[in-house]
Amino acid sequence: MPSIRARELWMVIALRLAAAAQIPDSPDAVVAGIPVNYREAKAGTYALPEALKLNSGKPVKDAKTWTKVRRPEVIRLIEENWFGHAPGRPKEMSFEVTDAGTPAYGGKALRRQVTIRFTKDGRGPSMDLLLHLPANAQGRVPVLLNMSFFANNLAVTDSGVKVGRRWDRNTKTQVPAEPPPPPAAGAPARPRFPGFPVEQFLAAGIGVATFNKDDLAPDFPGSEAMGVKGLYLKAGQAKPGDGEWGAIAAWAWGASRALDYLQTDRGVDAKRVAIHGVSRLGKTALWAGASDERLAMVIASCSGEGGAAIARRNYGETLAHMAEPTRFPYQFAANYAKFSGKVNEWPVDANLLLAAIAPRPLLLQTGSTDKWSDPYGEFLAAVAAGPVYELLGKQALGTTKFPAAGEPILHDLGYSMHDGGHGTVPADFGIYIRFMRQHFMK
Ligand code: GCU
Repeated sequence: MPSIRARELWMVIALRLAAAAQIPDSPDAVVAGIPVNYREAKAGTYALPEALKLNSGKPVKDAKTWTKVRRPEVIRLIEENWFGHAPGRPKEMSFEVTDAGTPAYGGKALRRQVTIRFTKDGRGPSMDLLLHLPANAQGRVPVLLNMSFFANNLAVTDSGVKVGRRWDRNTKTQVPAEPPPPPAAGAPARPRFPGFPVEQFLAAGIGVATFNKDDLAPDFPGSEAMGVKGLYLKAGQAKPGDGEWGAIAAWAWGASRALDYLQTDRGVDAKRVAIHGVSRLGKTALWAGASDERLAMVIASCSGEGGAAIARRNYGETLAHMAEPTRFPYQFAANYAKFSGKVNEWPVDANLLLAAIAPRPLLLQTGSTDKWSDPYGEFLAAVAAGPVYELLGKQALGTTKFPAAGEPILHDLGYSMHDGGHGTVPADFGIYIRFMRQHFMK
């Protein structure tokens, strides 16, 4: 059995040898004045920060050293340089169950709605958690905790859900999330979100919980001090410090607060909760899972740059695009933007974020034409995180060969690419259910 170190080196060599251009090249582009490379041969070479090496330089040779020493080091590095440090569970948090169990989906579901408040007097931001449990469940069920771009009433097709809120970026206030009006006569019909397929999960014996990221923090430039982040500012502090939470960490904090509630719900097996999100919420799912070990599984869809894609690869979106002032710097700790244009000096990269989720099951879902999110870069990060899964006795991808679209790898570390673009397509949900059943319901 070669040493872990030798295996890591071997893997670097194997990756170089593996045929690289599995995603067809496209012409270069420019976004926000910054060039975008879509040619594999120009993605560059790099040395990743090593997961299995302590900050002191000593190698990590056993599971205990990983768990007790290296993993906490990795979490601190990611907090400081990427998503930002978030506070813990608020002492004064309360749960108000406003809907204790109403039949929904034609009797197939039992619906609960819970308002989670963070302050003693209940003032300030609050979050609405929606839960659908299979009506025929015998005992506690595993749950998919879905983070949504939409208020709960717009995230699912259950018409009994109370109207939530969204942020209005013009007035910088939260307003009721009423359904959008139908398109005016003659205007092109915009595709409407079909709603999260709750019933498909219920039929598989899985509950679905959902909350709107906007309940925790808004999603526009200049929002650094808004939402729950505003609650924790010290007197005279205008915005969080350079190593403190951006929007993604605030959304991930919301996932932990949702889990705090789920731990009290008698219909839920809180030891089998999978966190899920798409795109910026895919990045959020990864950080929620890495930072809160109670989350038993992570399913991250098209998380891309700032998520599972190796940032040191010059392909698709880069750290520089992400941190460009008019784009998404507010989603991260202020320190993150300091590495714009010098990503090789960044003390972290996606391989460390994925490794921090080990030994828990992790599924990366991508799309073959979603080049902006660098699906191959996500695969390479999963390969590089593999030795940590193996050190902990888990099954990593087990290959350095990029799987074709439609050929998912569903080991403890999983990778699944659909044929198509950004986001989740209907077939992906069946794969999530397979992954959940395989690891949660053996
Ligand atoms: C932009 C951004 C991506 C992000 C995506 C989304 O495209 O560049 O990094 O994942 O928005 O969240 O929809």
